[in-house]
Amino acid sequence: MSLVKLVDLPNLGDNRSGFVVIESTQSIPFEIKRLYYIFNTSGDKPRGFHAHIDLKQIAVCVKGSCRFILDDGFHKEEFILSSPTQGLMIESLTWHEMHDFSEDCVLFVLANRHYDEDDYIRNYDDFLRFVKNKAGEWVCS
Ligand code: TYD
Repeated sequence: MSLVKLVDLPNLGDNRSGFVVIESTQSIPFEIKRLYYIFNTSGDKPRGFHAHIDLKQIAVCVKGSCRFILDDGFHKEEFILSSPTQGLMIESLTWHEMHDFSEDCVLFVLANRHYDEDDYIRNYDDFLRFVKNKAGEWVCS
């Protein structure tokens, strides 16, 4: 199963402009509790390098582009996000990195929980241990 799950954000625009509407629990499959955005980026300054225990997020590159690495501890996939009408789902327990930001990149991220530092796993080896233990529990139960 692919780690790259895309959410279609239809463009309601016309000859005046592009126009995308995002509604909590409608186009986005969860209740949006938080939104943040990344801007003034540069290609040699990647971000991310963590996973969340429970948080689900959807990233939308409303301008420019960046390359995502998604990793569930068993598989790793890359995806270049470059369309304001495409959301990339970042599931919980998915190590994610954002690389190669274009200079004009504006990356919006929608999240289903408020900020909680305790929900982060910031060390890759801890992440691997966490997901592999969890998979072991699942096999045993
Ligand atoms: P972080 O999620 O760690 O991003 P990155 O891994 O790309 O550096 O966020 C950077 C800092 O901002 C970190 O100290 C936590 C803080 N932060 C908040 O206070 N609230 C938030 O909603 C987010 C996403 C981050």
